[in-house]
Amino acid sequence: MKKVGIVGWRGMVGSVLMQRMHEENDFSAFQPVFFSTSQAGQAGPEAGGSVALGDAFDMEALADLDIILTCQGGDYTSQAHPQLRAAGWNGIWIDAASTLRMEEDSVIVLDPVNREVIDRALESGKKDFIGGNCTVSLMLMGLGGLFQNDWVEWISSMTYQSASGAGARQMKELILQMGELGAAGKALASDPASAILELDKEISGMLQNNELSTEAIGYPLAGSLLPWIDRKLENGQSREEWKGQAETNKILGRSQDIPVDGLCVRVGAMRCHSQAMTIKLKQDIPMADIETAITGGNEWARVIPNDKEVTCEELTPAAVTGQLGIPVGRLRKLNMGPEYLSAFSVGDQLLWGAAEPVRRMLKIALEA
Ligand code: HSE
Repeated sequence: MKKVGIVGWRGMVGSVLMQRMHEENDFSAFQPVFFSTSQAGQAGPEAGGSVALGDAFDMEALADLDIILTCQGGDYTSQAHPQLRAAGWNGIWIDAASTLRMEEDSVIVLDPVNREVIDRALESGKKDFIGGNCTVSLMLMGLGGLFQNDWVEWISSMTYQSASGAGARQMKELILQMGELGAAGKALASDPASAILELDKEISGMLQNNELSTEAIGYPLAGSLLPWIDRKLENGQSREEWKGQAETNKILGRSQDIPVDGLCVRVGAMRCHSQAMTIKLKQDIPMADIETAITGGNEWARVIPNDKEVTCEELTPAAVTGQLGIPVGRLRKLNMGPEYLSAFSVGDQLLWGAAEPVRRMLKIALEA
């Protein structure tokens, strides 16, 4: 049985990964060895016979493994990966962090969309397989069928990204902020006779006078939004926005880029990223063919009819949270012309946006 080292299994993405691996009985297919950056020697998790946690910085112990799967984060990758490779370790490195994504020798994994790219890479001896940016993976999971048909000339995606993409502390702080606003406004909000502008004044005052907990997020997010994610690049894009085109085209293994651009926005959702997309098709494709292509793209993408009730019931972060399904709706031709299509998709940021592609890559690597 192959030996697989798992690093960063206790963090948010790592915990979702562990949950999914237990659900799918993945641990029966390999010998897991759990590592920790801070608690080596302590008991590891139950997964086919728990043993003491290894030291995630013990390069000799890591070099003994066939495969390493890490959700520990970019700092760990920057430290451990080059040392291991320099020491001649030739195993497969699977990583949820972005550090190695755009390296020439790495592959961004999203097998329902790019299994052929992954298989070719394994055959040619590539060893680094990296999970993609969450919005990019979720966009491709929803619209993969349009790309498979080579119908897309360009896409503009405007995102509504959840607090989970920023981190666990930010998720907690979002709820704290909601609670603070709720507590302050409760009496006025629940009194049918209260004046709405009085309630508005109370809440606006809290948002504008720094009266919310903002240590993790930096700003009020509850009752507001933040139209900037990650750092600024020279061309005015945020780095999150830059990833849209760079990673989409790398995942698809394209030599000529499809333009992808738009604004990335943090909203007060917990763990589902949504995005509103304007898609320029290469020609006027009938709507029925578009729907068939989306549904046929992979087994998780599904079309939500462009009707109010079903959209508000099924095409929301509230409905999709914790689900692997990727609903795609608001499909209609725009006033700009019959080649212009709108779409709205929602996906769980911690599942297809983070843990699921690397979990599935481990299975592919074990079977290779
Ligand atoms: N960068 C993403 C976000 C999450 O901030 O929502 C990770 O892909």
